[in-house]
Amino acid sequence: MKLFGTASVNNKGNLEIGKCDVADLVNKFGTPLYLVDEELIRNNCRLFKSSFSNSDIETEVIYASKAFLNLAMCKIIHEEGVSLDVVSGGELYTAIKAKFPPNKIYMHGNNKTMDELTLAIKAQVGRIVVDNLQELYLIERLCKELKSKAEVLLRVNPGIEAHTHEYIQTSTNDSKFGISIFQEEICQIINEFQSSDNVTLKGFHCHIGSQIFEETSFYGAVSVMLQFLGKVANECDFITEELNLGGGFGVYYSQDDTPVDIANCLQNMIDIIKKNAKKLDIKLPKIMIEPGRAIVANAGTTIYSIGGTKKTYGGKNFIFVDGGMTDNPRTALYDAKYEAVIVNKVNYENKETYTVAGKCCESGDVIIKSIELPIAEPEDILAVFSTGAYNYSMSSNYNRIPRPAVVFAKDGEAKLAVKRENYEDILRNDVEF
Ligand code: LLP
Repeated sequence: MKLFGTASVNNKGNLEIGKCDVADLVNKFGTPLYLVDEELIRNNCRLFKSSFSNSDIETEVIYASKAFLNLAMCKIIHEEGVSLDVVSGGELYTAIKAKFPPNKIYMHGNNKTMDELTLAIKAQVGRIVVDNLQELYLIERLCKELKSKAEVLLRVNPGIEAHTHEYIQTSTNDSKFGISIFQEEICQIINEFQSSDNVTLKGFHCHIGSQIFEETSFYGAVSVMLQFLGKVANECDFITEELNLGGGFGVYYSQDDTPVDIANCLQNMIDIIKKNAKKLDIKLPKIMIEPGRAIVANAGTTIYSIGGTKKTYGGKNFIFVDGGMTDNPRTALYDAKYEAVIVNKVNYENKETYTVAGKCCESGDVIIKSIELPIAEPEDILAVFSTGAYNYSMSSNYNRIPRPAVVFAKDGEAKLAVKRENYEDILRNDVEF
């Protein structure tokens, strides 16, 4: 088991996060609870910002908000000087409501609706990342109607196969995202952008996948993209001003995971860009990266109450928690692995191998398939680590289960960021007839 950020075991033998005793937070906020280590998020932002910088090249770190977003997150990200990637009207609306500076917002999506694009254009987001030509035409039309202009990047696909779960690979040649850099009509596509009155193409965006551990995948993508910039300069007469390299930096969930050294990897990426630009004799573009998971995953811990345990006839030992795939669908979806402790028994000896299951009406509702823990009893508290990314953001109301509260802990203070849903929230949009 690995503890991250401010997580530690206090002299009462309890787990502590952000200098708050988790048992006390349970008394105050109830369970299940998404507990966030604010300091770790801030430190991760600082690590990315300081490592992705170089005096010869303009850089920008953009947080991929799909990993975890709410008003409190927008505030922290902005205070840390990081920009924001949004991928839907809902994420954009959250950023607008949080008064996030629009010029630091990147609007993504492979199928943005007219409403979403209208919202983005009206808000004057910094960049729209255009997925395809149909979308360009739509943006052009909307800009005309709204008497506005848009600066955009084109999403391209460098055909890099990063070794990660098939569902979270994005850059194979059959990806639904972007346009392949190998497409023969690439110059015609760029020309379409250049002949637009209201849309200005500033450069390109690519993203090769998520939860990537092989740093060579990032270096390969960078080299391929630089070659592509050389090609479009020579063959399409297009000088790229901006290159957004996406996110994908893998994190530690369990002992199987070996994340890259972020500082080292980012510096290597910059070196490769500089070397290749010189070799190919192309102007150094501004470069951006878009980490999501690596900023928040290890900063989140989900706290559950254990309702009961069950030894099956077949020999399986279950722990039942008061949440499940509704607050963390990643085990069911990706066979994700997690580490956990019993908060009130952190120093006890591990005695059993358990499967941690939720309360949903579905056999696949499992959070951890196999974990060694001390003997678990009803009313014990279970903390599942590294749930900060793609848990709250992928949560659901399956079985009409209300979503947990989100609490940020820092320096002994715990702030409620998202209220626990109640049954009225579950009914809010139902219409009786
Ligand atoms: N930029 C773009 C365009 C993306 O599509 C993504 C993630 C990111 C940045 C951030 O990637 P990250 O640094 O977080 O790996 N639900 C899945 C992950 C899906 C990622 C989708 N795109 C999971 O729970 O593992």
